Amino acid sequence: MFWQQNLAQMWVDTEFPVSDDVADWEAAAEAERTSYKYVLAGLTGLDTLQGGEGMPLLAVHTGDERKRAVLTFMAAMEQIHAKSYSTIFTTLVPSDETRRLLSEWVPSQPQLTFKAEMISRHYRALLRPDPSRLDIYMACVASVFLESFLFYSGFYYPLYLTGQGRMTTSGEIIRKILLDESIHGVFVGMLAQELYAELTEMEREEAAERTETLLDELYRNELEYTALLYDEVGLTDDVVRYIEYNANKALNNLGLEPAFAPEPFSAIVLNGLDTGTKHHDFFSQKGDGYVMALNVEPIRDEDFIFEGRTEHSRLYG
Ligand SMILES: [Fe+2]
Ligand SMILES: [Fe+2]
Repeated sequence: MFWQQNLAQMWVDTEFPVSDDVADWEAAAEAERTSYKYVLAGLTGLDTLQGGEGMPLLAVHTGDERKRAVLTFMAAMEQIHAKSYSTIFTTLVPSDETRRLLSEWVPSQPQLTFKAEMISRHYRALLRPDPSRLDIYMACVASVFLESFLFYSGFYYPLYLTGQGRMTTSGEIIRKILLDESIHGVFVGMLAQELYAELTEMEREEAAERTETLLDELYRNELEYTALLYDEVGLTDDVVRYIEYNANKALNNLGLEPAFAPEPFSAIVLNGLDTGTKHHDFFSQKGDGYVMALNVEPIRDEDFIFEGRTEHSRLYG
């Protein structure tokens, strides 16, 4: 089921004409552009981590071949996500500025490096050939926190602007990414719950303690990161409500109780988030209805007889 669902929602960034957003980009205020660029740069860093380390390392330590196949497919999609931010950058931002953001800002921004380090630490515990079941469980927890919680301080802004009819093509790419992360969080959460069922009572206690500490540290870090990205555009409080909502979703994916009681946040962002909603009228570009041509006619030997085809074309046009 997860394999089919991943396949059904597969997409590539080059299908989206980001150049349609250039006029909106040029009309945006300086502070808006700054927030947008930091948002995208941060997301690039996190998706790179998930594609290069998180998903592959979980796959190595997953016994079931089918689940391993799903995880490695998801890893490939993470790379498409990372690539798609780059497509947006390339279209909207001069290349020297993009380079500065990705090779200087991302590796040195304190809150971003903190969250990457907190997650990566759990992934790298799996570099050993025989990690403990608890270590694998905690790597799943870290992965779900990334998929279902940490990406969302970034997703908020493109969804917010797109909900107002601005930057809609880039927003649609972000929504495709969000739909993927949504299924990734559910799948890895399911793996985590299966592992949890096999833990001893003592391991469960330790897992609960480590999960709570990790969530607490990541949440406090997200508050700082959010203020840094959104104070200038006046959205910090609303983004915090949004990340609390998503932290609860992450916990739910892990089969755990919610930790926050968030106030309602921007309705247009909620619409962008609701993965059950189809065909938003404010997404003027390809929406959920976009389906890759997966069930195409199989290749036949005749397809390679080019001379014959030329002859056919000559005779029948
Ligand atoms: Fe991703
Ligand atoms: Fe993901």
